Amino acid sequence: MLNTRKDYQFWDPKRTGFVTNYPNFLHWKQLASQKLREDRPLNIYVHTPFCIQRCSYCYYKTVNLKPAEKADRISRYVDSLCREIELASQYYGLGERPVVSVYFGGGTPTLLEGEQFERIIATLQKNLNLTHDPEFTIEAEPVTLTESKAAILKTLPMNRMSMGVQSFDDGIIARSHRLDNEKKALKAIAIALDTGAAINIDLMSGMAEETEASWAHSVSRALETGVQSITIYKTELYTNTEYYKGPPT
Ligand SMILES: C[S@@+](CC[C@H](N)C(=O)[O-])C[C@H]1O[C@@H](n2cnc3c(N)ncnc32)[C@H](O)[C@@H]1O
Ligand code: SF4
Repeated sequence: MLNTRKDYQFWDPKRTGFVTNYPNFLHWKQLASQKLREDRPLNIYVHTPFCIQRCSYCYYKTVNLKPAEKADRISRYVDSLCREIELASQYYGLGERPVVSVYFGGGTPTLLEGEQFERIIATLQKNLNLTHDPEFTIEAEPVTLTESKAAILKTLPMNRMSMGVQSFDDGIIARSHRLDNEKKALKAIAIALDTGAAINIDLMSGMAEETEASWAHSVSRALETGVQSITIYKTELYTNTEYYKGPPT
């Protein structure tokens, strides 16, 4: 049985060989590609693999950008993404199938500029069938959700926003290397609610330095915000995170 961190040392911290999908891409056969062509409704996921920081617990596919490289890297990514939407739609013949949901996840989609959201959405609309009023979610991170960004999001077909808050305890948030705090998170939630979209906030239980009192504080603050839903993730420990290395010495 594997109990302690030492027991897991045989794992490669770089996660070489980590299986992210099953069956693995190497084993995809023609059958899988035929299934993709079946005439069924579609759920579309659009990934933004960039963040303003790498949070200590996070194992997601994302890169934290330095301010000097941010504009160029994101712009090149959006160009490629739009091209990929066109190619995938043509190759798999997706143009007529009704899209029932669109999810912009990350990373941090709220790092995108308004013009970039508009361009991606216009590309989706041109290449896919979005005429059935799909659920349309954008994932947000509090410090990147400014009033001006929210004003742009309001003009998009977004009807749901999911914001990562994780904790309302400033010490826990600082320990996670996030740039928010309780005050900033509450302000961002108010801005999100003002867009008129249904708002979800994520909390994480079991973060480093959490106590019963800090968890109770986070839950009661979350309930006071008036958001439509709260998702609670149990903190998972992955080898590619700073949490895995243990407390700073
Ligand atoms: C891809 S993140 C997007 C949210 C946004 N980037 C932010 O952090 O504000 C989605 C959610 O995954 C959860 N998450 C990230 N790392 C986790 C971990 N190690 N264990 C459990 N949940 C985790 C967090 O609650 C986070 O809000
Ligand atoms: S939790 Fe969110 S902001 Fe933090 S590194 Fe992960 S995706 Fe980026």
